[in-house]
Amino acid sequence: MSTFSIMATAKSIPDKVVTNDDLAQIMDTSDEWISRRTGIRRRHVVTTETNTSLATNVAKQLLAKTHVSPEEIDFIIVATMSGDQLMPSTAAAVQGLIQADNAMAFDISAACSGFSYGLDLLHSLLATHPDSTGMLIGSEALSKLIDWQDRTTAVLFGDGAGGLLVTNKQSADYDGQFLSGKLSTYGADGDSLTMGKIANHSPFVSGDAKSDLPLHMDGHRVFDFAIRRVPESIREAVAQANLKLSDVDFFILHQANQRIVKSVARKLKLPFDDRFPINIDEYGNTSAASEAILLAELVEDGKIKRGDILVMTGFGGGLTTGTVVIKY
Ligand code: ACO
Repeated sequence: MSTFSIMATAKSIPDKVVTNDDLAQIMDTSDEWISRRTGIRRRHVVTTETNTSLATNVAKQLLAKTHVSPEEIDFIIVATMSGDQLMPSTAAAVQGLIQADNAMAFDISAACSGFSYGLDLLHSLLATHPDSTGMLIGSEALSKLIDWQDRTTAVLFGDGAGGLLVTNKQSADYDGQFLSGKLSTYGADGDSLTMGKIANHSPFVSGDAKSDLPLHMDGHRVFDFAIRRVPESIREAVAQANLKLSDVDFFILHQANQRIVKSVARKLKLPFDDRFPINIDEYGNTSAASEAILLAELVEDGKIKRGDILVMTGFGGGLTTGTVVIKY
């Protein structure tokens, strides 16, 4: 079992709050519909902030909380599907802004599974690089990619970032472990959740292709996918870690819909209680940032303690699911 100690967690949330009632002013929806079907009451959206500024704010907090210097960072991974541009990556921008001169930095794209995929990937990097330290940040500015005329998607999403700093260096202060990871991809179902289609306007291509940037979702298909595949993913990862579901202290699930979290608890034959924390009411679905923001809040509130067993599960575009089991 390899050392994988989470040294600190942090989050960065845009200032602008948009309530369900605010949305009802600009589209045919209501607080009653949104909160009953999803659990969402508010979301935060970027105005002055950018994907890069949110991610950089998280990175700076992680350094300040741990007194780790930027030069000691070996890896910076940003999970995002709403970067400020395709190139350079958000991670590269963060690396430059915090002057982490020895870090390799890159983004990963696994939609709402991005944070769990990133944790597994960071674990692999640390496992092959002794005495190293890495940063994983989930950062999203989805509000710029939402079709604000489409009430079936516009009410669901929000912006924000969260992240953590992990080391495999031996320390008296931390004794965390990465216990297992189960990542799955279902590419044949990818058309049920799409965003950012870029048309080819090269002079060598005929036709009048159109770009289609906004997010589109077949909500029913994604809902059914989630409540079927997420419990499977959790069961497999927990079994791989040689644990039982009863050993898990917190199931930190991607916050896409409170009803999905409840259904997953039911399918795992577990009560929907404090072990299934929820913060979708405040943030909406922040995609790759959602598990990270929830984790940061639970740590801030003193709910998660050293030694706790955490299941972290993402699901969404790809389609993808990802579960990692960690001893905090
Ligand atoms: N306000 C009011 N009415 C609405 C709204 C709205 N915002 N949106 C849809 N409706 C209407 C529909 O038009 C429909 O009306 P009709 O019955 O007259 O046709 C009715 O409400 C019911 O719509 P449904 O789509 O059946 O509502 P449902 O209960 O399925 O909830 C939802 C929709 C919330 C999208 C749900 O399907 C869901 O959560 N899906 C999964 C989303 C998800 O998990 N995404 C995760 C990944 S995200 C990522 O990777 C980026």
